[in-house]
Amino acid sequence: MPTASTLPAAPLETPLLRFLKDTHAAFAPVDDGEVASYIPELGKADPDHFGIAVATTDGHVYETGDTGIPFTIQSISKAIVYALALDMLGSERVEAAIGVEPSGEAFNSIRLRADNRPFNAMVNTGAIACCGLIAEAAGDDAFELIRSTLGRFAGRTLEVDEAVFTSERTTGDRNRAIAYLLRTYGGIRGDVDHLLDVYFRQCSVLVTARDLALMGACFANHGANPVTGVQVASTYAVARTLAVMSSSGMYDFAGEWIYRVGVPAKSGVGGGILAALPSHLGLGTFSPRLDMHGNSVRGIRTCEALSEAFDLHMLSRRDDVRTCVLADYDFHTVPSKPGRQPHEQRILEARSGSIRVLELAGKLSFASMDYVTRRLMDPAGVPEFLILNLHRVSTITDAGMRLLTGMLKTQLPPATTAVVAGVEGGSPVAPQVNALRAQGVRVRIFPTYDAAVEWAEDQVVYRHGGFSQIGIEADLGRQALLAGLSPQELADLSRLGTRVVFAAGTRILSASEPSARVYFLLRGMVSARSAANVRLSTLIPGMSFGELALIDEPRSTDVWADTEAVCLELGMEPFRAFQETHARAADRIIRNLAVLLAGRIRMATARIEMLTG
Ligand code: DON
Repeated sequence: MPTASTLPAAPLETPLLRFLKDTHAAFAPVDDGEVASYIPELGKADPDHFGIAVATTDGHVYETGDTGIPFTIQSISKAIVYALALDMLGSERVEAAIGVEPSGEAFNSIRLRADNRPFNAMVNTGAIACCGLIAEAAGDDAFELIRSTLGRFAGRTLEVDEAVFTSERTTGDRNRAIAYLLRTYGGIRGDVDHLLDVYFRQCSVLVTARDLALMGACFANHGANPVTGVQVASTYAVARTLAVMSSSGMYDFAGEWIYRVGVPAKSGVGGGILAALPSHLGLGTFSPRLDMHGNSVRGIRTCEALSEAFDLHMLSRRDDVRTCVLADYDFHTVPSKPGRQPHEQRILEARSGSIRVLELAGKLSFASMDYVTRRLMDPAGVPEFLILNLHRVSTITDAGMRLLTGMLKTQLPPATTAVVAGVEGGSPVAPQVNALRAQGVRVRIFPTYDAAVEWAEDQVVYRHGGFSQIGIEADLGRQALLAGLSPQELADLSRLGTRVVFAAGTRILSASEPSARVYFLLRGMVSARSAANVRLSTLIPGMSFGELALIDEPRSTDVWADTEAVCLELGMEPFRAFQETHARAADRIIRNLAVLLAGRIRMATARIEMLTG
């Protein structure tokens, strides 16, 4: 029977890479369109070059074909320079100089809006005005700033094709006419040729299809380069740039594009197309043959095929907001810990509904967080304690935080205590949650669900007449592990043990040490903690720990003294002597241990069923 190690090493490739390769093969024979020649140097491009690259927002790059061939970025640069202008000068200044309306005309149209502003920053009029804004702010450093910004989007230093720059500078009269027209209306200031040199160089920066995919992924990743992690643009600038790309990035083909492909994109006469689907991916294609609009023919076909095959149209979102609620249950389903003292158990059993738990997951956005708030609109369903377990929440958007804060601040009745759990140090949402308290939000925050529900249960016990006076010594008769032993048997066992006192903050047991002693907690409070020092459960007088030593099983947690703790320590030698002389009582202890462990298994099973149900 062949095994994985004997089978020939198959080339592992994901279905998406397979699709991209098939798409490349399907469109490579397409030779419609012409290589741009109005800038003579561009005419030297190899018309058969064809590359496709996809970059994901977690930094993976798929590539097929000529994805490493350099070509000039041309108009694609306009999108990134527009985002730069928004971040550098602010929207008010940029909008005063450049409109955000589609022109419906070719990229090199000289026409301005009725108010003499360019229609938008994607056509040449708007792009030259945008370049002017950068020059206004950065002076002689304008081009280097543009080049470094393009490089941060690509995640590498980019160079200029000097031959293309010279060729465009020599033949760029139409853009000179645009520039003089803009200067007439104050759309640009200063020397026209000096400014156009910046613009022509900007268009002559060399990129590859892979670079375009990564640039697109920066836009898709809300302004952060998914490979370098650098925040290259603000989320505000990204959203506005994608908006203008959606309406104008493909010029007088923009309407068809957003109808058929539905992904914000920008094309360039060098043969590139950059597309960006927010929260999903960046796409870069390169093929120099252009259609009548100045867009790459194979690039358009590729984008259409990808969008159709994987339903990428940005307006066909199918997220079901209800999936953010993983589970909604009363704390009895998953209580904090086994072996609460009998009087505490009676109080808690009588108070079903006093603690409600919402396990949330995924992205808490506007729609999903609104759904959560509506689940709490039934007054009968609002408990004394509401625990929001965010352990599986990956993101809370600004809108989601606004609704969460509002729910905690104004929606919940004063009698309800809000508790947020599952935001250990590494949680991606911990900073946002921890900031709630600074905003005056009344909320208790715990690293784990168990710590949260244990605290809430303690509050219910204390509020309803129960208490665990950890300062009062509990006799052995209250130990769940010793249930059923006679007073004489308890006295004989007690004589075999040693009374020990642990100072607050002492580690009593380590998970890495062999378990060789059982401890009966008589006074004080101790806690079981994980290796990462996360509190797993709290023990109070009348409870025991280290009991796995009785069945010679290794420990799984550390145990720490939260307060000064007085224990009866019982070694295994004395216990074996007890077994010799008190066989019935010893059997009863082992049986009690089995009952306790069964309770823990039932609790764990209930939790797994609830979370996977
Ligand atoms: O200004 C020009 O005409 C070129 N540097 C850029 C034009 C362009 O890329 C149009 N996009 N398809």
